[in-house]
Amino acid sequence: MMRRTHFFLIVFLVSILTGCGMDLDWKADEEYNNSVQPPEEVMNAIGVKEGMVIGEFGAGYGRFTLPLAARVGESGRVYANDIEESSLAFLKKRCRKAGLKNVRTILGEYEDPLFPKGSLDMAFSALVYHEIESPVVFLKNLIPALKPNAPIVIVDNAPGKNTEKSNIGRHWEKEFADAGLEIVKRKKLHERDVLFILKIATR
Ligand SMILES: C[S@@+](CC[C@H](N)C(=O)[O-])C[C@H]1O[C@@H](n2cnc3c(N)ncnc32)[C@H](O)[C@@H]1O
Repeated sequence: MMRRTHFFLIVFLVSILTGCGMDLDWKADEEYNNSVQPPEEVMNAIGVKEGMVIGEFGAGYGRFTLPLAARVGESGRVYANDIEESSLAFLKKRCRKAGLKNVRTILGEYEDPLFPKGSLDMAFSALVYHEIESPVVFLKNLIPALKPNAPIVIVDNAPGKNTEKSNIGRHWEKEFADAGLEIVKRKKLHERDVLFILKIATR
C-alpha cells in the first residue's frame, strides 16, 4: 500500500506540474496573439494617448490591459472588465507585479460591462466581440459610458474567419447599425484579424 506521505507528495508534484502547464498555455496564446495583433501597433492605429480613460471589455488575463495602462500613464486610467472573476484576479496580480496603479477591474454582466456612465475616452476590446451572445444589447448598454465622440474599438477575428458556434450566422455590420453605431475605420491587421473603430451614428 502507498504510504500517506508518498500520496501527498505525488498530489503536490502533480499540482505543480499542471499549474506550470496552465502557465505555459496562456503565455503561448498571448505570444501568438501579440504577434498578429501587436499591442503597440494597435494602440498607434487607434490613437491611445497619455491621460486617456479607457474601458476594456473582456480584458481576460490583461494582454492589452497592461500595455494600455502603461501608455495612458498615471494621469489616465484603464477600467478592465470581464465576466470571469478569476481572470480579473489574475489580471490584478499582473498589474501589481508590473507596478501599474491605474487599472480598476469591473466584474460585468453578460449584457452590460457596467463601466461608469460618461467616463470613457475610448472603449476597447480584443478577441471578445465574437464571444458576446447579445451583441446589440451589449453595445447599447456600453454607449452611455462613452464621453461625447468617444470611439468603440473592436479588434477580433474577421467576421467569417472564426468558426466558433457563437459567431456563425452573425452579421457584424448590421449589429453595429442596429446598436446605433457607424464604422469610421476598418483596418486589416493580419490574414485572420481586423480592427473596427465605431462611433455613434450621426444620422
Ligand atoms: C479570448 S479571451 C480574450 C482576452 C483578452 N482580451 C485578450 O485579447 O487576450 C475573451 C474574453 O472575453 C470575455 N467575455 C466573453 N463574453 C463577455 C461579455 N459578455 N462581457 C465581458 N467579457 C466577456 C471572456 O471571459 C474572456 O476573458
